Order: sequence, then structure tokens, then C-alpha cells
Amino acid sequence: MGQGKANEVENEVEIIPAHVAIIMDGNGRWARQRHLPRIMGHYAGVKAVERTVIAATNIGIRYLSLFAFSTENWKRPKGEVLGLFGLFRYYIKCKVKKLKEENIRLRFSGRTNLLPEDLQDLILWAQDETEKGNRMDLVVCLNYGGRQEIIDAVNRILDTDPETRPKQIDEESFRSYLYLPDLPDPDLIIRTSGEKRISNFWLWQSSYSELYFTDVLWPDFDEVRLREAVEEYQRRERRYGGI
Ligand code: IPE
Ligand code: IPE
Ligand code: MG
Repeated sequence: MGQGKANEVENEVEIIPAHVAIIMDGNGRWARQRHLPRIMGHYAGVKAVERTVIAATNIGIRYLSLFAFSTENWKRPKGEVLGLFGLFRYYIKCKVKKLKEENIRLRFSGRTNLLPEDLQDLILWAQDETEKGNRMDLVVCLNYGGRQEIIDAVNRILDTDPETRPKQIDEESFRSYLYLPDLPDPDLIIRTSGEKRISNFWLWQSSYSELYFTDVLWPDFDEVRLREAVEEYQRRERRYGGI
């Protein structure tokens, strides 16, 4: 039985996906269409994040996860990587107060230990500040890779004291070694910009996620687009291998 069903919040008429995950893609193409540098596309992407976070709370989504920087994104030109890190700092510094007011808990997933140290400090500070938020968990995936998460889990198991190390692993015990074990699997994964691939996002967690692809570029994403995706999700029949 997949996790998703148990985590869904049942409304009177519609089922709101408990966890919506978004692969925010298309910032570069958005900028190119406007003859702007790529970083301006990423800046517009931050604005779309701000809109989408509010939209998700309006809709009643309990967990929103956003793929912001993959373990493969280090391949990009250094200037772009540094620009992105600058925007992450800006987002955290400017938004923590508001997120706190809105009762939103900001969390991070990924190999954050390999990010610049000041960004790591900001991450710890932001997690601490918003820890009590219980309206929505906003999970930012930073230096995240699904394969790396699985490998890190395996290494954590190997690293445990041989005395206490589990002799066998099952799905439930394996899950406890993931970055955020309490996070329910995504019910719905949205990818913008027309690409139809997972690009190393939530590999373990996405086994029964509904996938939704839209041609809209991430900087153009908004509440209307999010509601369209949720409505499409509501028309899907989830079977988890059953009939
Ligand atoms: C997504 O937009 C943002 C990140 C991956 C950080 P892209 O930068 O990948 O935009 P395109 O795919 O080049 O249009
Ligand atoms: C996926 O987008 C990663 C993020 C949105 C952070 P990419 O633009 O990096 O993915 P590919 O390279 O097109 O697969
Ligand atoms: Mg891209």
C-alpha cells in the first residue's frame, strides 16, 4: 500500500494532495525569450516561488517541496552557480519572518553540508526560526539528488555500530535513513517547462506519485496553474498496483 492515500486530506468534495513536489524548470528559457541574462530568469523564478508558497497554503497543501538545485547543477558555469546561491541567501534572509508569521516551517533536503558555509548557517538559522510552523512544511531541495540520497542512506546504515546495526532492512527501516524520514511521499509531482523527466528528484519517494507536466515556464507559474495541476490530480485514479 502506498503512503500517499493515508496522508491525503479528505475534504467534503475533493481530495487535496498532502504533498506536492515541483521541479521548477525553465528559468533560463524564460530569460532567453526576453533577451535577459539567465540570472534574471532565476530571479523571476524566486518571485514564482513566493506566489506558489502562498497559493499552496490557500489550497490547503500540507507539504510543498521545491527542487531548487540538483547535485548535477554544479556542472553549470561558475557565475550561474554563484548567482543561484546568492538568490538562495536572499530568499532565506528576506522570507523567514513572513514564513514564521504564516506558520510555515522551512526545511531543506539534500547534501547541504557541501554548500558554502554561510549558506549552511542561514539554513540552520531558518530551520530553527520556523521550527514551530504547523500550517505547511516548505521543503527546499538544495544540492539534492535522489541517487545520492539513497547512497547516503546506505552509507549511514554501514556507518552505524555493528552491534546495533540492523541485520536486515525493509522499506520502513530504510526510510528512516533518508534525509527527511517523516516527510510523506509526494502525491503529485509537477514539472514545468515541457521537459518530461524526473532529473534525479525524489527517486525513492516517487514510486507512486502522480506526474504532471506543463509547458508553462517556471517564472510564469502561479496559483491558477497550481490549481489546474491539483484538479488534474483529482481526476486521476490511484491504484497502487491494486484493481
Ligand atoms: C530551473 O531553470 C532552475 C534550476 C535548475 C536551478 P533552468 O535554469 O534549468 O532553466 P532552463 O531549463 O535552462 O530553461
Ligand atoms: C532539474 O532541472 C533540477 C532543478 C529544477 C533544480 P534541470 O534543468 O537541471 O534538469 P535537466 O538538466 O534538464 O534534466
Ligand atoms: Mg532546466
